[in-house]
Amino acid sequence: MKILVTGAKGMVARAVAEHCRSIGDDVAALDRTRLDIADREQCLSVVGELRPDAVINCAAYTDVDGAESNEAAAYAANSDGPANLAAACREHNAKFITISTDYVFDGTNTGFYTEDDAPAPLGIYAKSKFDGELRVAKENANAIIVRSGWIYGEGGTNFLSVIRDLLSSGKHITAISDSFGTPTFAGDLARRLRELVERDVSGFVHVTNSGEGSTYYGVACETAKLLGIDASVVTPISDADLKRPAPRPRYSRLASKRLAELGLDELPDWRDALRRFVKA
Ligand SMILES: NC(=O)c1ccc[n+]([C@@H]2O[C@H](COP(=O)([O-])OP(=O)(O)OC[C@H]3O[C@@H](n4cnc5c(N)ncnc54)[C@H](OP(=O)(O)O)[C@@H]3O)[C@@H](O)[C@H]2O)c1
Repeated sequence: MKILVTGAKGMVARAVAEHCRSIGDDVAALDRTRLDIADREQCLSVVGELRPDAVINCAAYTDVDGAESNEAAAYAANSDGPANLAAACREHNAKFITISTDYVFDGTNTGFYTEDDAPAPLGIYAKSKFDGELRVAKENANAIIVRSGWIYGEGGTNFLSVIRDLLSSGKHITAISDSFGTPTFAGDLARRLRELVERDVSGFVHVTNSGEGSTYYGVACETAKLLGIDASVVTPISDADLKRPAPRPRYSRLASKRLAELGLDELPDWRDALRRFVKA
């Protein structure tokens, strides 16, 4: 298949491009200098020229705190961008997948959020991503909107690579113990995104590693264990201690009600995924 990946320098984009190439796809991975997704005309012309079978949109404004003072930039990448690509894919008959976030939920559900739950985003980043979801669904009825959360992998400044590197270099760290999410390995997410391209599916799909989820503190302790380090080097703190500009959902664990319908198994347990990441 010919796959166009946007935001090529980002963490998820790298994992998606690597996975697609590994299974023999013809991959065009374009960074912002070659495709600015906020530019509607450019989206239409690039998709029209390359004629991909599918576009997997991994480009986004992902600085959750920065978005609070950069609303226009967040909406350009997270709302205009996906809407532009959705329209270009409709126009040129390509499958469109875009990635959204667990942060579209307000975090009051102490269980798991499924595709049936109503979003209620808290901060600007979350609101811009939710706006993007709505506009994609309006522009392109065949689009797939994949919500994921707490994604980590190679090539990004994500929480887990920071935890792993600090612990590996003998540092003591603090980690939030009162936010709950579903950690997701970018490599596993990439495989699932590519599987969805093949399915006759549209609408919302939640994609995370399976299991009960965890807190950042829980993930940090598990990482220490995998590195053979005593977990006492990790000190639990509260989210409120960090006094960050953007509000975040306290509980944002995701689960999918659609796996059976799609003929897909659950992704591996988050601890198994973490082991593969830490040992790699
Ligand atoms: N990381 C997580 O924990 C997490 C959780 C849930 C959902 N997600 C979603 O997963 C997707 C991938 O995230 P990620 O962690 O891989 O993010 P990332 O590493 O920050 O990568 C995003 C990439 O998008 C690029 N970009 C920004 N605006 C662009 C534009 N207008 N046109 C083209 N490229 C643009 C960025 O380039 P510049 O560096 O030039 O800005 C960056 O290379 C995003 O949709 C994100 O919202 C992430």
